[in-house]
Amino acid sequence: MKKEILIVYYSHSGNTQKVAKLIQQETGGVLCEIQPEIAYPASYNAVVEQAKKEIQAGYRPEIKNTVPDLEPYDTIFVGSPNWWSTVAPPIATFLSKNNLSGKTIIPFCTHGGGGLGHIQQDINRLCPQSRVLDCFALYGDGGTGAKSKIAAWLRKIDI
Ligand SMILES: Cc1cc2nc3c(=O)[nH]c(=O)nc-3n(C[C@H](O)[C@H](O)[C@H](O)COP(=O)(O)O)c2cc1C
Repeated sequence: MKKEILIVYYSHSGNTQKVAKLIQQETGGVLCEIQPEIAYPASYNAVVEQAKKEIQAGYRPEIKNTVPDLEPYDTIFVGSPNWWSTVAPPIATFLSKNNLSGKTIIPFCTHGGGGLGHIQQDINRLCPQSRVLDCFALYGDGGTGAKSKIAAWLRKIDI
């Protein structure tokens, strides 16, 4: 039986969303956009400052109720932009408030040159009962090579 795949992501400026959609096209999984109850400011400087404060304080913003019942999904891709070397707070909220025990979590991130930062360790810590695969990282939206890089990564991890 084909495993059910869910692709959960947060994206502020569209890069992570683009990657999530490419994963969706390759896997046929179900997309789920995480949205904070209160949207982050659009201005780059304002969001950078707000994110810094939230991450330093370990703040977990409320998120909208867009997440389906997770029971049918064995495999959950979880995508975030790299914000201050970690996941965006709405993704930390998703990971901490849902029961992900026994599930395979496949993290992916987009970044502005800092790569993964400590996203891998942070996700491992937020999902102690899950099997967490190695995080896949792309610079920006991955450019024109994104689709083939994503396809190669999915083949490598046997999805
Ligand atoms: C609040 C904030 C913090 C960021 N911190 C980092 C960082 O620490 N390292 C990095 O490489 N890029 C950082 N970036 C750049 C983003 O990770 C990058 O632009 C990403 O692709 C944005 O994804 P999105 O379009 O899905 O929101 C930051 C961007 C923002 C808005």
